Amino acid sequence: MNAAKRTSTFTESVIREMTRIANLHEAVNLAQGFPDFPMPEPMKDAACAAIHGDINQYAVTWGSSALRHAIAEKYRRWYKMEVDPDREVTVTCGATEAMASVFLALIDPGDEVIVFEPFYENYGPDAILAGATPKFVPLERPNWTIDADRLRQAFTKRTKAIIVNTPHNPSGRVLTRAEVSLIAELCVEYDAWAITDEIYEHIRYAGDHHVLATWPGMRQRTITISGLSKTFSCTGWRLGYAVAPHAQTTPIRKVHDFLTVGAPAPLQAAAAVGMAFDRDYFNHLALDYRARRHVLVEALDEAGFRFSIPEGAYYILADFSELSDMDDVTFAKWMTQEVGVATVPGSSFYHDKALGRTMVRFAFCKKFETLKRAAERLSTLRSVV
Ligand SMILES: Cc1ncc(COP(=O)(O)O)c(C=O)c1O
Repeated sequence: MNAAKRTSTFTESVIREMTRIANLHEAVNLAQGFPDFPMPEPMKDAACAAIHGDINQYAVTWGSSALRHAIAEKYRRWYKMEVDPDREVTVTCGATEAMASVFLALIDPGDEVIVFEPFYENYGPDAILAGATPKFVPLERPNWTIDADRLRQAFTKRTKAIIVNTPHNPSGRVLTRAEVSLIAELCVEYDAWAITDEIYEHIRYAGDHHVLATWPGMRQRTITISGLSKTFSCTGWRLGYAVAPHAQTTPIRKVHDFLTVGAPAPLQAAAAVGMAFDRDYFNHLALDYRARRHVLVEALDEAGFRFSIPEGAYYILADFSELSDMDDVTFAKWMTQEVGVATVPGSSFYHDKALGRTMVRFAFCKKFETLKRAAERLSTLRSVV
């Protein structure tokens, strides 16, 4: 018996394969986008207290009241955005589940969904699960900007939604006010949804974080997705959320209920503690990542890679064409084996694989000692390539 056709184009994550090779060669793993340092102590304590306090049964399907209120309060405090915690918030198992639930709740088979490339790997499979037709719009190198004409041409009367990820994985780009305004204008003109992925909202080195839902005319046509994984260094907790108008929250909650019933109850209790942290925590997070970025930027520069310095998130998408003629997959495997640093081949972030053939992605969400070890190894690259 065959598996369902919809899975036929799904591939095993390249990141997992690179991790397997990295382990085999004891390479420094800069492929995976998760921190190798601990999350905040007060949240760990709150999680333990919740478990010992017997918060161990199903939470309310769309999220505990405390966490939904903490999320709404955070949007008010940070972005002056009024959110109704009872009618507009759905807590999910990570931003990943939020995105899948939103696709399944709002997109019909045959609808077109605009996706910028390079993209975070999950958007393609999400579109396939929903039967949507993704339309890819490349961000323009070298600085990963949006070409207004190209974006305009991608919108048609079949466009149902656009996925907007800022700060951006894998390029590190933070969209400008003008770019966000253009997206808003096109969504209004074509009556399309904006589905945002703002998981790196607090990891920024330049530019403001623009919340599309706060743009004139956009609140009623934007689904704002974010989560705890990156802001609180807890990718294993699997906590995210979608903020949407009530009419759309209703179907999103239904899909979420059927997919997962709910997110982990004791961790939701601890998440509410983190959401209420004061600004110092968030400022410190960004400063800390700025210092980690510096270590990797220097190392890649000296090693001879070409790249634009990330404005946000914790990745560098680097071009190696001045170092080697190999393709990206061969180069990534070679570098893992011979230099001892694992990365993700650039083509895994593109639908048009040719566009990523000369690039690899480095993640710098790692301890300073891990990054320095990687830097030492990268300093040998030119002598072995
Ligand atoms: C752009 C983007 N969105 C979502 C996720 C996953 O988020 P979560 O852990 O909340 O599912 C990642 C993880 O790397 C990401 O880079």
